[in-house]
Parts: sequence; C-alpha cells; structure tokens
Amino acid sequence: MCGIFGIVTDKEQPLGPILIEAAQRLTYRGYDSVGAATISGATIDLRKDAGRVEEVAERYNFAEMTGARGITQLRWATFGNPSQINAQPHLDSDGDLVGAHNGNVVNNVELRQAFMAEGMTVRSENDGESCVHAVERYLDRGLDFIPAIQGAYQDLQGDYAFVIGRVDDDKLYAFKKGSGLVVGIGEGFTCVSSDLPSILPLTRKVIRLEDGEIVTLWADRVELHSAEDGQLIERQPETITETMASVQKEGYDHFMLKEIHEQPVVARELLHRLDGDPDLVDQVVSKIADARNVYFIGCGTSYHACLAGAIYTAQLAGKAVIPVIAPQFAPQYGNTVTDKDVGIFVSQSGETKDVLNALEIAQAREMMCFSMANVIGSTLTRKTEAWLPLVCGYEISVPATKTFTNQVISFLYLAAKLGGVEDLDFAQLPDLMEETIRVTDPQVQALVPKINAWDDTYALGYGATYPFALESALKLKEITYAHCEGMLSTEFKHGPLSAVTDGFPVLFLAGPEDVPLIISGINEVTCRGGEAIAIGQADERLRINASDMVTIPDSNSAFAPLLAVLPLQLLSYYMAVARGYDPDFPRNLSKTLTVD
Ligand code: M6R
Repeated sequence: MCGIFGIVTDKEQPLGPILIEAAQRLTYRGYDSVGAATISGATIDLRKDAGRVEEVAERYNFAEMTGARGITQLRWATFGNPSQINAQPHLDSDGDLVGAHNGNVVNNVELRQAFMAEGMTVRSENDGESCVHAVERYLDRGLDFIPAIQGAYQDLQGDYAFVIGRVDDDKLYAFKKGSGLVVGIGEGFTCVSSDLPSILPLTRKVIRLEDGEIVTLWADRVELHSAEDGQLIERQPETITETMASVQKEGYDHFMLKEIHEQPVVARELLHRLDGDPDLVDQVVSKIADARNVYFIGCGTSYHACLAGAIYTAQLAGKAVIPVIAPQFAPQYGNTVTDKDVGIFVSQSGETKDVLNALEIAQAREMMCFSMANVIGSTLTRKTEAWLPLVCGYEISVPATKTFTNQVISFLYLAAKLGGVEDLDFAQLPDLMEETIRVTDPQVQALVPKINAWDDTYALGYGATYPFALESALKLKEITYAHCEGMLSTEFKHGPLSAVTDGFPVLFLAGPEDVPLIISGINEVTCRGGEAIAIGQADERLRINASDMVTIPDSNSAFAPLLAVLPLQLLSYYMAVARGYDPDFPRNLSKTLTVD
C-alpha cells in the first residue's frame, strides 16, 4: 500500500526534514521506494529511488530540500519494478508539474499508450506518472486546474488518491477515488495525507475527503470542489480529540476488529499486486511445477495457511505438497531434502525463529527457498530467493487475521496459476469477504452467550475447511483462554465425542460439497444432547440438522472455506471481549517469536 503526503507553507523554508518525517509516519503501510519533491518558484527539486526512507533520504540528502510546497511518496510496486525511474513523485512532459499517487490506476497501460501517441514524454511504467499526464493533458488544452483535474478524474479508472503541484504557483491540489485522503489545517500551513494518524503530529484540525472530491490547498486555507461537476463543496474542518492510539483504531474498539474488517481491502491490494507482478508469480509457479518435493512451512496461523495452500495446490493443480510445522521440518525431512526440492517459508513477521531454523537447514541442503511474509525487510524476506509480499500493512493485534487470509489467497492464486484454472473469479473474492463479515457479524453476536458459557469446545472441518477449523480453534484459544480443539470432523467420533454432554458446543465448518458428511458429524453430537453450530452456505439440510447456523454468502468450493473462517474470527473476538479480555494483547503471547 503506497502513501502520499503534501504540504503547502506560508514561506520558503527547509521542507526536507518535514517530508522525511511524514514519509517515516507512512512506512507502516509497506513500500519499496521513496521520493520527495519541493517546489520553489519556477524550480522543482525531485529526488527519489528504490530503498528505505532513511537510506534514500540520506543518499540524496532530502534534508537540504527547500521550498514552500512539498510532496513525498512511498511506493509499493504494482506497475513497474521498484526502481528510481518508477519511484514517485513524477514530472509532466515539460517538468512544470509534479505529482504522486497511492492506489491503482487499472487502465494505466492504455493511458500510457494514449499519452505517448499525444506526444507527451512518458518516462516510467508507473501509474502515478499517468495521473500527472492525465492532468497535463487537460491543462495543455487550455483548461484551468480544477476542470483539468475533473477531466483526469474521468480518465483514470481504479482506486487511488493523488496530489499534484505546478511551478510558479502557491497551491497544491489533491483528489481521491477509493483510497484514503485527509486534509490537515495548521498554523501557517495546510497538508494532505493518505491517513489521519500521519497528520496528527502536525495538526488536529482536519477535513476527511470523500470520493470524487478535489481539494485545493493554500498555506492558510483549503477549498473543496466536486470532481463530477466542479461545484464548490462547503465542509467545516473537524477537530480530532481522540488519542493517537484510538485514532489508529479508526473507530473500532480494538485493532483486532479493525484488522478483521480490513481483510477485504488488503485482499484487493494483494490481488492487484499479484496480477501486476506476473514475473514473480511465474518464477514461483514454474519452480513448484518442476520440483521433486514441495514444502509449505510455517508456525501457528501461518502453518494453517500452509495446510490450506497444500490442499488448494492438490485440488486445483494436481500437485502434492507437504505442509510442515517449521520445527518439525529438520527432524522429519531434513536428511531427505535436495536441490530438486522447493519450499515456501510462510511468516507474518518474517522473524519467527522456528521458521528461520528450518530455512537454514533447507538452504544448507540447497533447496530452492521462497518466502511469503508481511513485514518488509524482515530476515526471512532477505534470506530467500524471492519474496511473496502479503501487502497487509501493519498487523498490530497479536492474533493474526488479515495476514492469514492474504496468505491463503496467495496460495490459492498460485494454485490456480499452476493448475491453469481460469474460472475462479478472484475479483469477486474481496466483495464476498466484505459481505460475509457484514452478514455474519449479527449472527455471531447472537451466539456468543451460548458458546461463552463453556470453557471447552471443538471446531471441526473436512477437506478444504479442515485448516480453517484449526485456525478458528487457535483464534478462540488464543484470546478467550478457553480450550478449543480444531479437528477433522470425521476424527471426532474416534475419541473426543465422549466429551459431549447436554449443551456442549461443537462448531462445524461445512464446505458446499461436504454437507452430507458434516451432517453425519452434526447428528452424532446433537443426539447426545450437544449443540452443533454449522457455519456454511445456506442449505436446508444443514439448517434442519444443526442446532444453530451461521450462514455465509454463496460462492464456490475454493472460496467458501476461506469465507467460513471470518465469522469464527469474529466469534473469538466477541467472546474475548465478553469475558473482559483484551484481544489485541493476549496474556503470555508475543506478535513476533524470535526464540526457539
Ligand atoms: O509471524 P509468524 O506468522 O511466523 O508467526 C507464527 C505464529 O507465532 C503466529 O501465527 C501465531 O500463531 C499467531 N499469534 C496466531 O494468531
């Protein structure tokens, strides 16, 4: 997720340090390149490159940049590889305009061709540059800035936010469609940024922009216009009184709930990222296709994603994969591994010692090692052949939620590519996730008192829902401190069934193709007085057999298991809160486990 920041001040001054600090506040969003531009009279000073904020800022001496207006941008590559030329901000053809965006302009390729055909100078492959040319196109036709932006707004398809400035002017302009953009108004300056927390250290007086709004920033005031019809929009600034921590929670009581709700957004980002990097995807897929043995390796929640990934890879591509809990890799497979094998090492943090230990063994035996991790620059990403980024931004809450779903989606995407499956409509998945969270939240909340009366429960799944049952059980254990065991549903009758007494709750995750089998398990529980709670698509057979049902939207046998885990994340959250526990920081646990 990229981030932008722009500032207009009432005098020429050193803006470099302000831009560096603003960029640092946006780093949590994830990035691979950084850039800054200041505008002073007729001169634009533009410095940028791939790399981390501190190193690029030092190498190009951002600190010495001066001006009355400045823009900084952190880029996470989608269109064009991470490089100096693709880094943002970008100039227009004549070097009179400078701008930067975050988000994705989905018709970037077509636009670049059109701009070149119109005689503009296109220097990079990046869609941020297309935003600049989209405005340039209309300014060159003689339009004023606001109508020019209106024209650009019509031409740029996708979700993005954009900031732009021109030489010999005293303003910056920004507009948004889909991505976040917040305006700050301070003493002697105004600013605009991708998010509220990055503005708060400068000012608490803000205006949150809506989609389709253009803001003009002067040093002492701002003005809003509609991108549709150019009409002036009246909106008074609001004063933020909450603490930084509560602002970061964006109105949610806990980071966990916020991160559960962010899952559709980061899934969309991830899919865009994967679609935009076919070379990376092909590199990993072709190595998996040619490998003798393939291992997916992780711990805890990341291991559950590995298990789901192995099932998807077998189901969609007919390729057997060995999912392994990382510390078991050396004793079970260490002496069998060769350079003909491939491993994907999976970790939210990229620092889990158990995973790094397994990597060391694998690399000593010359296995081809890839990583799938969220934290940029983490040890795992640096030590592997190539890194599949999870594109989730910060996950603050200790229980993993959005990183888990993006791990699973990454594996599902790779499996579909490997198997040449083209009828899985990935573009629908984020919407289905959003719908699932919306419709299951009240259903789940209604079940909390019943399940929370117990300190023991089971979460059962079969086939592709099995890893999600394990993950649901881990979430419940982790933050409610109650026992919940995840199992294959068919194994329940081989022992644990003896735990069932009157009212004993058992959760059943039902894949659309496994309903008859799940119903057998349900009846083994209900006929002994237990409460069987089914989580699945609307199905009359489940409804009449189960004691309760959480209904998820209809999809397909690949998406349904992933959707089924969302209400169970919510269930664990609401149960923990009802018990008076803080789900974000469960006792005894740490977000990053760097010990054996
Ligand atoms: O950072 P990692 O993904 O390598 O962490 C692995 C586990 O410690 C982690 O998934 C843990 O199980 C989570 N807190 C579960 O929510």
